[in-house]
Amino acid sequence: MRPRVAVLGAGPSGLAQLRAFQSAAQKGAEIPEIVCFEKQDDWGGLWNYTWRTGLDQYGEPVHGSMYRYLWSNGPKEGLEFADYTFEEHFGRPIASYPPRSVLFDYIKGRVEKANVRKWIRFRNVVRHVTYDDGSGKFMVTVKDHDLDEEYTEAFDYVVVATGHFSTPNVPEFEGFDSFNGRVLHAHDFRDALEFKDKNILIIGTSYSAEDIGSQCWKYGCKSVTVSHRTAPMGFDWPDNWKEVPLLQKVDRNTATFKDGTTAEVDAIILCTGYLHFFPFMAENLKLKTNNRLYPVHLYNGVVWTANPKLFYLGMQDQWFTFNMFDAQAWYARDIMLGRLDVPVSKYDMEKDIAHWREVEDNLADDYGAIDFQGEYTRRLIDLTDYPSFDINGAKEAFYQWKKHKKKNIMTFRDNGYKSVMTGTMAPVHHTLWKDALDDSLESYLQTEAAE
Ligand SMILES: Cc1cc2nc3c(=O)[nH]c(=O)nc-3n(C[C@H](O)[C@H](O)[C@H](O)COP(=O)(O)OP(=O)(O)OC[C@H]3O[C@@H](n4cnc5c(N)ncnc54)[C@H](O)[C@@H]3O)c2cc1C
Ligand SMILES: NC(=O)c1ccc[n+]([C@@H]2O[C@H](COP(=O)([O-])OP(=O)(O)OC[C@H]3O[C@@H](n4cnc5c(N)ncnc54)[C@H](OP(=O)(O)O)[C@@H]3O)[C@@H](O)[C@H]2O)c1
Repeated sequence: MRPRVAVLGAGPSGLAQLRAFQSAAQKGAEIPEIVCFEKQDDWGGLWNYTWRTGLDQYGEPVHGSMYRYLWSNGPKEGLEFADYTFEEHFGRPIASYPPRSVLFDYIKGRVEKANVRKWIRFRNVVRHVTYDDGSGKFMVTVKDHDLDEEYTEAFDYVVVATGHFSTPNVPEFEGFDSFNGRVLHAHDFRDALEFKDKNILIIGTSYSAEDIGSQCWKYGCKSVTVSHRTAPMGFDWPDNWKEVPLLQKVDRNTATFKDGTTAEVDAIILCTGYLHFFPFMAENLKLKTNNRLYPVHLYNGVVWTANPKLFYLGMQDQWFTFNMFDAQAWYARDIMLGRLDVPVSKYDMEKDIAHWREVEDNLADDYGAIDFQGEYTRRLIDLTDYPSFDINGAKEAFYQWKKHKKKNIMTFRDNGYKSVMTGTMAPVHHTLWKDALDDSLESYLQTEAAE
């Protein structure tokens, strides 16, 4: 009997796993039977935009956290697939910070070429995963919304690739229940135009805060106030943008901060991050972690130490994304194909994890974190036949990106970087980011600004 592999989720991580197996098959390997379960109608994970918020048409929690007008927040040169370049997909070099629709198109291009869609069961939501010691198999229970039926199948391996930027972390502040405006989490933010001419208050200081605030600024909000728990972001913000200490309470439209200062606000956007949330995994298989570079119990960041037939992809906080997911997927594939071993002893695996977590805990700054994740990716790539690439070059693109942000947070996306896959320098985009209101693929791929 051919072994069976269940891949949970068809976002960039799950698709990396499908492509990894297809690539081995293309080179003549016998591969297991692959079944990918995807709750949405289409592939691409977060990059598959939905206007929906709350529950979807089947009553399932909406996965999407992306919003209109979202442009990549890091240079594409840091995430490029080593086996499918931007130039191959678009037929020419493109600028460095593509909008969501362009990255979605790129993600799709590789897996369309690999012809792996046939392995995916769409509108199939994974409900429960357990491991049966007797048979040595995972039992995966799934709800098929096309048939309106639940079914269970046995698998030899499970790869969890359901993402971790979808279930919002939602703190409460005094007075929210009587606030005279909308309180929402970044997960439910869809269109900055909703906040045109409004005074918005953002809680949090990470990427969602920076980017949603910037979107609202770009699309004409009246003012942005960003409230921090730990430290301000400290960029040189536009005049109608200020950073304040943590929110203490709201009273109707008046927000009071820890230092006693106040602001009149029309809407509050909680950019307070996400939870790693796997309600469908049995307790003994469930990853429980905060958002960090080296989560617990995952050997080489991928293999579940208590049961090395279970893998988690993309569970790290992310500087590197698509090519790191690939490195992980190729590594998991080679374990499943019997080409690579993991230590027999769980103790040895946990010891290795503890080492890397200690290294992470002592990283000095973001530059150290980028280096750490780049080297992690390199170690995995060195173990498999995933095409090796210039990781130092990719790290350099991130370092430049950080410097460009520091220089001007509203113009950093106007810069270009060199592809570490093709050596080509990205062209400068035809329109400055702040003036580019149309985020469509067609507009981005034009070679000149529209009249
Ligand atoms: C707002 C936002 C912007 C981002 N911008 C960038 C960026 O500019 N550049 C970048 O590199 N990264 C960005 N990211 C990071 C993002 O995490 C990765 O790019 C990437 O989408 C992660 O891929 P993934 O496959 O691990 O997870 P996801 O993209 O979340 O995909 C997971 C898939 O699993 C499916 N799924 C979930 N639960 C189930 C279930 N029970 N049953 C079946 N299927 C299920 C989902 O429907 C989804 O298709 C951003 C993240 C967010 C939230
Ligand atoms: N355009 C884009 O490409 C784009 C846009 C948005 C998001 N993203 C991606 O989305 C992912 C998630 O980013 P994120 O910013 O949503 O999450 P995140 O990086 O996990 O940051 C969470 C933020 O919430 C704050 N926070 C958490 N609980 C809080 C509380 N109780 N009170 C006050 N503040 C609290 C944290 O503050 P502390 O520092 O005090 O802990 C931190 O600033 C990232 O990978 C990012 O790259 C990309």
